[in-house]
Formats: sequence, C-alpha cells, structure tokens
Amino acid sequence: MSRIHDALKKAELEKAAGAGAETGARSAGLPEPEAARGEGVPGVMLESPATPALGAGEGRSGQITLETLLARCSRPPWSPKPEGLVFLDSPRPALGAEEFRTLRSRLYLVRQKQPLQTLLITSALPLEGKTFVAANLAHVFVQQQECRALLIDADLRWSRLHLLLGAPLAPGLSEYLQGKADEFSILQRGPQGNLFFIAGGQSAAYPAELIANGRFKGLLQRLAPVFDWIVIDSPPAIPVSDASLLAELCDGMLMVVQAGTTPFDLAQKVCEGFRTKRLLGVVLNRAAPRSGYGSYYYGGYGEDGGKGKRRR
Ligand SMILES: Nc1ncnc2c1ncn2[C@@H]1O[C@H](COP(=O)(O)OP(=O)(O)OP(=O)(O)O)[C@@H](O)[C@H]1O
Ligand SMILES: [Mg+2]
Repeated sequence: MSRIHDALKKAELEKAAGAGAETGARSAGLPEPEAARGEGVPGVMLESPATPALGAGEGRSGQITLETLLARCSRPPWSPKPEGLVFLDSPRPALGAEEFRTLRSRLYLVRQKQPLQTLLITSALPLEGKTFVAANLAHVFVQQQECRALLIDADLRWSRLHLLLGAPLAPGLSEYLQGKADEFSILQRGPQGNLFFIAGGQSAAYPAELIANGRFKGLLQRLAPVFDWIVIDSPPAIPVSDASLLAELCDGMLMVVQAGTTPFDLAQKVCEGFRTKRLLGVVLNRAAPRSGYGSYYYGGYGEDGGKGKRRR
C-alpha cells in the first residue's frame, strides 16, 4: 500500500504546488510494465486480481455461452462522444491513450499473480473521473484483438456511461435487478463488436438494496465465461454504500483520485476502508503534464469538467 500512499501524497503536493493543467490518468500501486519503469509515465497503481478461462462455446451449467450472447444481445446504434473517449478513430493520436495502455499493462501483470476479471472503478467523492476512467479502460482492453470486454454502469443513482457511449439508457441494470428484464435484453453490443455494455437503466428507489439483492452477483457469474474483462462504474464511496457492496462482487477495484482536488485524508480513509476489499491501486486523474511527456496527456478534454455539480 505504500505506493498508493505515496501517490496520494504526491497528488496533494501537486495541489500545493498549484499544478494546473488538466491531463490524463496516472496509476499508482500497480506493478510497472517494463516500458514505463523509471520514466514517470502517468497511469494507475495496482496491487492484486483473477481470470477464469474464457469460454468460446459451452459454459458451465447456468452460464451464458458465447454463441448465445452473440445471437441474443442487441446491437443498437451508438454515437460515442469523442471528447470523453480517447480510443475513437481520430486523424491524430489521442492524448491520454498511452496512460490507459500503461494501466492495462499493469493490470495484466497483476493478473499473472492472481485471478482478475471483474474490476470496480470508484472514488472517494463525486466528479473525480470514475466514468471517464471506466469507459476508457474498457476501450483500451478491446483495442487488443480477441479481447472481449463488458462495461457496466452500476451507478444507479446518476447513470452517465450511456451518454459517453451515445447508447440507450434502458433497459439496463436497474430493470434487471428489479426482475423486469433478462440479461439479453440489457446487453448491448457496440459497433466494434468486442465491447459490450450494460447501461444503468431508469432510476429506481433503493439502489443499494437492488445491488445487494443477489441478482447482480448471479449476473456476473453467468457472464464471466464469455468476457476477458468486466469493468464496473460505480458511485463515489464516501456519500453512499453502493461501492462498498459492489466491491464484494469484484475481483479488484481501482480508486480514482483527482489530482489537486481530493483531500488526502479522505482518499486515505477510503483506501483503508477498501484494503480488505481488493483495492488494486489508485488512478491519478487530471494530473498535470510532466515536462517532456506532454503528448501523453489528455488535451482539450472537458473544457467545463467539474462544472454542473449536483447533490446525490
Ligand atoms: N482527465 C480529465 N480531463 C478533463 N476533464 C475530465 C477528466 N476526467 C473527468 N473529467 C471531467 O470531469 C467531470 C466528471 O467526470 P466523470 O463523470 O468521469 O466523474 P465521475 O467520478 O464519474 O462523477 P460522478 O461521481 O458524478 O459519477 C466530467 O465533466 C468530465 O468531463
Ligand atoms: Mg460517474
């Protein structure tokens, strides 16, 4: 955990130093891939993970097979938002893409040591970049050939992933957890073919109770054989209990910390709280560009980032 501690401290120091420019996501606590070692490449920190063998055909009893998934899930048109996704086709290399590749490499390194398939993305406070990190992490996974990823919006209080993807909001997880929809009607297959998505669905009363009612756990078990990675976006950990409940269902979690904004003591408190819940590391989001590495950072993204705050 010391690297996580160091990273949190660093974020606070950056704040004190007045680091200004918005940039990308750095990782801390995660093993460093060879290429990144000693170069200060921004990214994420990890410490642990899991990987069931991916089933290309038959699954165990009750589990969904790939053939069934492809035959039955919907393929609605998506209109992804380029300002929030760094892996969309673009005439110029997207700023920030390299940080997500570094994070991906670190996650694979963790996965060599322990099972790691289902990843929860959370943060201490609202608006730190969870949805941004979850969406781009899922996209960097499917940049690899033969890699199939599922992105789930489990923020049932303020579902926003569908807006980034330009995908339908419902039916989604909320409808599934209420027993109003089956898994095939909530699964969307994206235009790339290997990225799948479950939107948050219409808002419902008592989201924490819905998450804990057992259906989400069953859903993840049924879907596990057909995906390499499952990335789950969640609400912030401090104001509501959902992230803590979700962490119980995942192999590992990443905590997003917004550079220069997240109070050190709050971030540390959440890290301590999740230590027993497979906290892999911290993603330092919107960190200042480092000299010589400016092109690795997101530029021109989210001009109004952080505005439009609302109450939960
Ligand atoms: N790296 C970044 N650079 C610039 N803006 C960013 C970056 N990451 C996030 N933002 C902006 O910050 C705001 C919050 O991002 P996002 O929705 O990902 O946060 P969140 O943690 O999911 O919020 P919530 O707690 O509401 O779910 C958005 O307006 C987004 O555009
Ligand atoms: Mg969000």
